[in-house]
Amino acid sequence: MCDQPYPQAVIFDLDGVITDTAEFHFQAWQQLAQKLGIEIDRAFNEQLKGVNRADSLACILRHGGQEQVWPPEARQQFMTEKNDLYRQLLANLTPADILPGILPLLAAVRAAGCRIGLASVSENAPQVLASLGLSDRFDFCADARALSHSKPHPEIFLTACQGLGVDPRQSIGIEDAQAGITAINANGMYSVGIGATLTEADYRLNHTGELAWPDLLAHWQAAQVCPDTLITRS
Ligand code: BG6
Ligand code: MG
Repeated sequence: MCDQPYPQAVIFDLDGVITDTAEFHFQAWQQLAQKLGIEIDRAFNEQLKGVNRADSLACILRHGGQEQVWPPEARQQFMTEKNDLYRQLLANLTPADILPGILPLLAAVRAAGCRIGLASVSENAPQVLASLGLSDRFDFCADARALSHSKPHPEIFLTACQGLGVDPRQSIGIEDAQAGITAINANGMYSVGIGATLTEADYRLNHTGELAWPDLLAHWQAAQVCPDTLITRS
C-alpha cells in the first residue's frame, strides 16, 4: 500500500456554492427578461449557471426568439441593467450569507495544507467575497475579465490550477452548475457537485451543509490510483 495522498488544492465556484447569489442572478435576469416579454423560470435558469453575462443574455434572447432582434449596443444596455439589478440585490450581503458547511470546509482544507482557489466567471466575484469577509481565505482567484471562455470550457479551472501552481489531476473542484462539472471533469480534476439534478460529478451532495472534509477526502482518496500497484482504492 502506498501512503494515502492529499489533494494539492480545492477550487470553489462562488455563486451557489459559497453563497446563494445564484438566486440573485436568476431574479435579476428574470426581471430583465420580463421587460423584454420573455418568460424564464428556475428550470430554464439551470442552463445559465456558470455562464458569463454576455452568453447568458444570448441564451435568454434565443429562448424568447429575439436572438436576431437586438444590436450590440442594446445588448450592452441590457447587460448593464441586469448587472445594476444584481448589484442592488448584493447590497445587503454579509458574512451571515455564507452557505452552511463552507466556513468549516475552508478551515479544514487550510489546516490540511491544501491550497484554496476560486473559479467564478462572475466579474462581481471580488465584491461578493469582500462582502462575505472571505477575500483573504483564497490563495488564488481566477480573474473573470481575463477569460476567453465561459464554463463548460475548462479554461477557468485550468487557470485557477496554474495560478495556484498545482496539478489539476491532484485537485478538487466544487460546483453547483452542470457546466462547471463539465469544466472540472475536462481538466481531469475530481468533481464535487452540489445539487440534486447534477450528473457526472465524481461525488454529489444535495446541499453545502453536507460538505465535510473527512468525507470529501475519503472519497477523493478512494478515487486515486496507487502509483506503486496501479490498484484503484475502493
Ligand atoms: C456565474 C453565475 O458565477 O457568474 C452566472 O453562475 C452569472 O449566473 C455569471 O451570469 C456572470 O456573473 P456577472 O456577475 O459577471 O454578471
Ligand atoms: Mg455556481
